[in-house]
Amino acid sequence: MSKREDRGFVVWFTGLSGAGKSTIADALAPELRAAGRKVELLDGDVVRTHLSKGLGFSREDRDTNIARIAFVAHLLARNGVAVLVSAISPYRETREAARKTIGDFVEVHVAPPLEECIRRDTKGLYKKALAGEIPQFTGISDPYEPPESPELAIDTSRETVDASVARVLAKLVELGRLDTLASPPIQDATAL
Ligand code: ADX
Repeated sequence: MSKREDRGFVVWFTGLSGAGKSTIADALAPELRAAGRKVELLDGDVVRTHLSKGLGFSREDRDTNIARIAFVAHLLARNGVAVLVSAISPYRETREAARKTIGDFVEVHVAPPLEECIRRDTKGLYKKALAGEIPQFTGISDPYEPPESPELAIDTSRETVDASVARVLAKLVELGRLDTLASPPIQDATAL
């Protein structure tokens, strides 16, 4: 029988631009490594610089982007990797297709109010979108369909990054994906 740490999974962070998806994933990764897991990050912004280079933000292009991310996440997870995906992934149906492709899928809705994302405007994109300079901008001139029953919902305007990371870890333990919180795996003397 395979050990639990050999079983991969995908934590799929969905939410608006500037919601805090990548921030939580970046802080979660070292915690999972400390718990003995191999970790890979698949970030929408990064994926769009190579695997999805050339894709835009029409529904079709977003769906293609998400299907590619889901495919790679599936390959990694089935080889024991804990995969952390951060992508707006605005369409419910497309996320459900990703869930089907992947199987071990933990959906986390990173959901501060839109006003908070606009206030933060970390990349200066909301200002441009509100001025009509970026068409089809999620939350402003393009839809975002919130998950109906995500494994976890996080309002990053009401809690710290550390608290959010702790809640994701606790959820992974509750779902049986992790044994314990951030402790290295105990060597099984019989297996040596
Ligand atoms: S997704 O819709 O296909 O899941 P993805 O997460 O890969 O999107 O990329 C979103 C990032 O692209 C945003 O964080 C932002 O930096 C940038 N971006 C550029 N144009 C848009 C747009 N029209 N809508 C949303 N994000 C955009």
